[in-house]
Amino acid sequence: MRHLLNVTALLSVIAVVSGYVEELDDKFKDYLKHELWLVEFYAPWCAYCHTFEPVWHEVGAELKSMGSPVNVGKIDTTVHTSIASEFNIRGYPAIKLFKGELSFDYKGPRTKDAIIEFTNRVSGPVVRPLSSVQLFQHVMSRHDLIFVYIGGESYLKVNIIREYYKAATEYIVHTYFFTASEEVLPKTVTLQDVPAVAVFKDGTYYLYNEFLDGDLSSWINRERFPSYFQMDSFSLYQMGELSKLVALAVVDEKNPSEESIRYKTLMERLSTEYRDNYKSDYQFGFMDGNEYINGLIMGEVEMPSIIVLNMTIDGYCLPENKIETIEDLLRFLNSVLDGSAKLQGGNGFLQHAKRSLYKAKSTVVSMFQEAPFFSCFVFGLPVGIVGLVIWGTCTAVPADDDKPVGGAPASPVLDADGKKAIELQSDSTDKTSEAKKED
Ligand SMILES: *[C@@H]1O[C@H](CO)[C@@H](O)[C@H](O)[C@H]1NC(C)=O
Repeated sequence: MRHLLNVTALLSVIAVVSGYVEELDDKFKDYLKHELWLVEFYAPWCAYCHTFEPVWHEVGAELKSMGSPVNVGKIDTTVHTSIASEFNIRGYPAIKLFKGELSFDYKGPRTKDAIIEFTNRVSGPVVRPLSSVQLFQHVMSRHDLIFVYIGGESYLKVNIIREYYKAATEYIVHTYFFTASEEVLPKTVTLQDVPAVAVFKDGTYYLYNEFLDGDLSSWINRERFPSYFQMDSFSLYQMGELSKLVALAVVDEKNPSEESIRYKTLMERLSTEYRDNYKSDYQFGFMDGNEYINGLIMGEVEMPSIIVLNMTIDGYCLPENKIETIEDLLRFLNSVLDGSAKLQGGNGFLQHAKRSLYKAKSTVVSMFQEAPFFSCFVFGLPVGIVGLVIWGTCTAVPADDDKPVGGAPASPVLDADGKKAIELQSDSTDKTSEAKKED
C-alpha cells in the first residue's frame, strides 16, 4: 500500500513537471511567428534522449518559475518526419531556440544551468546597453568575456555598428554583446578613436583594428574565447569552426602532479606573453582527463601531456621530446606551424573508417554503462525476434524441407529497421546541402 502511494505521488509529480514541457506536432511552426520557443527534437530510439528527459523538464519548470517569456517544447521527429529535414536536425537530442524569423542552435553541455543561461542570453536583445559604471562592473564580474561597442553612432562609422549587430546576431549563441559610452568604461581603458569595438577578457581588453584584423565578424569569431581556459568536448568541437590549432595541456585535475602544473603554467604564459605571435594560429587551454582526446586520436595520451590539435580534420601532433621550458614549447608550436612536425590522424578514408568503428564501439559501451536496461532492450529486441523466428520456423510443420532453417524470414525484419534508420539519415543530409545552397 505504501509503495502504491509512493508511485501515485511520483506519477503526479511527473504529471505536474511535464506540464512545463509541451509535446509539439508539425503545427508548432504556426506559433513561431508570435512566440519564443525552446524546442528539443528527439527520437524515441535515442538512449541519450531518455537520460536527458528529466533535465529538459527542469529547464521548462525553471523558465516558467523565472517568468521567462520562452515556451518549452519537444517534438518526436520519428512521428513528424518532415521536421528533421526541414530543421536540419543531424543528431539527437537537438535543441533550438526560435525567436521571430531566426533560430539558434544550442551546442553546449546538456545541463540545466547551461541551457537556461543560453536561453536567457539568446532570447533577450542581441546587443544590450550598459548605461552606468555600476552596470558595467556588474556585467564584468559575471562574465569572463564580453564584446562592447563603444561610442556614439557617428555618421561615418555607421557601417561598423551595422556589422556589429550582424555579428552579434550570429555569435549571441556563444557570448554577450553590449554597447556603452566612453564614460562608463574603467579608467584603464584608453581609446584612440571612437567608435571602437573591444573585447574584455583575460583580465584586460583588446581593441578591434579595422586595418589589421580583417572584417569585424571574423575578428569576433577569433576572439570569442578567453586566451587560455579549461576546455571540454563542446568547446573543442567549436574549435573546428575557429580555424585555429588548439594547444592543449591534458592533465588529471584530481591528482595534479608537478609536471601537469608546469604544463598548465607554460600554456597560460604562452597565451599572454606571446599573444601577438600566436593569436591567429593557436587557441590555448587545458583539459581535465584524457578520455575525449583518446577517442579523438584513437589511442592513449599520457597524463599529463601537451598536444596540438587540428579540429577541422581531427589531426594531432605530439612533441617528440619532453617539454621542460617555455623555449621547448615554443619550438614545438613553431614546428607544427612550419610543417616540420608531422600531423597525425586526420580524416582520410582509413582514419574515417577507423573512427566510425571506434565511435560505434564506445557508443555501445557507454550505452550499456549509462542505461543497461534500455540498451539490453534495444540490442536484445532484434536478437529476440530472430530467436523467435528461428524457434517458430523450427517448431512449425516442415512443409518445405529445402528452406534453410531460420535466417531468411528473420532478415527482412532486421533489414526494414536497419534501412529505415539509414534512409532518415541520408534524407536529412540531402536536405542540409539543399538548405545551404539556398542561402
Ligand atoms: C588543418 O589541416 C588542414 C588540412 O591539412 C589545413 O588545411 C588547415 O589549415 C589546418 N588548420 C589549421 C588551423 O591549421
